Amino acid sequence: MTPDDLKALIRTIPDFPKAGIQFRDITTLLGHGPGFAASVRWLAGEVEGVEAIAGMEARGFIFGAAVAARLGLPFLPIRKPGKLPCEVIGVDYELEYGVDRLEMDPTAIARGQNVAIVDDLLATGGTALAATELLRKAGAAVGRAAFVIDLPDLGGSARLAAQSVDVRTLMD
Ligand code: PRP
Ligand code: ADE
Repeated sequence: MTPDDLKALIRTIPDFPKAGIQFRDITTLLGHGPGFAASVRWLAGEVEGVEAIAGMEARGFIFGAAVAARLGLPFLPIRKPGKLPCEVIGVDYELEYGVDRLEMDPTAIARGQNVAIVDDLLATGGTALAATELLRKAGAAVGRAAFVIDLPDLGGSARLAAQSVDVRTLMD
């Protein structure tokens, strides 16, 4: 499937979750077997060579875990607040339609471990920057991040590049 075929599987819902937001909905892509498989294959190809994959709750779990399993790598869940049963480190951040917090188990990473971030969508970059900060605090080397969708007008890609993260995106 071409990137344009995959793009045609993304549904746009206007004014969700707030007025003025064009919500790019991946559930229609997930519901298409060959489309989902092609997206995971593409993401895996972009991050091959790293030692672990990190994904952010919730949509990042869908693609991140699939990519990790495909590459035979560990998957590191970065969670929304209050979900992890262990001691955590956390970072507050802003996204296109609100504020949130991410947490992770700081003992989940070996010092210097080369970790790639995988998520469905890059908008302001707030989520991916928070994940990068958390992973680096825990000792990881974060040099790459791959996303199915980029919203280039929101500048996330440039913000991540400024933090020395090499960004790969399948479609705008
Ligand atoms: C969405 C998406 C990304 C993030 C991108 O997650 O899955 O993680 O927004 O936006 P940003 O680049 O401006 O940070 P959301 O927080 O809506 O949570 P969900 O995965 O639980 O739906
Ligand atoms: N996350 C942040 N902005 C988004 C958007 N416009 N559509 C879907 N997910 C998003």
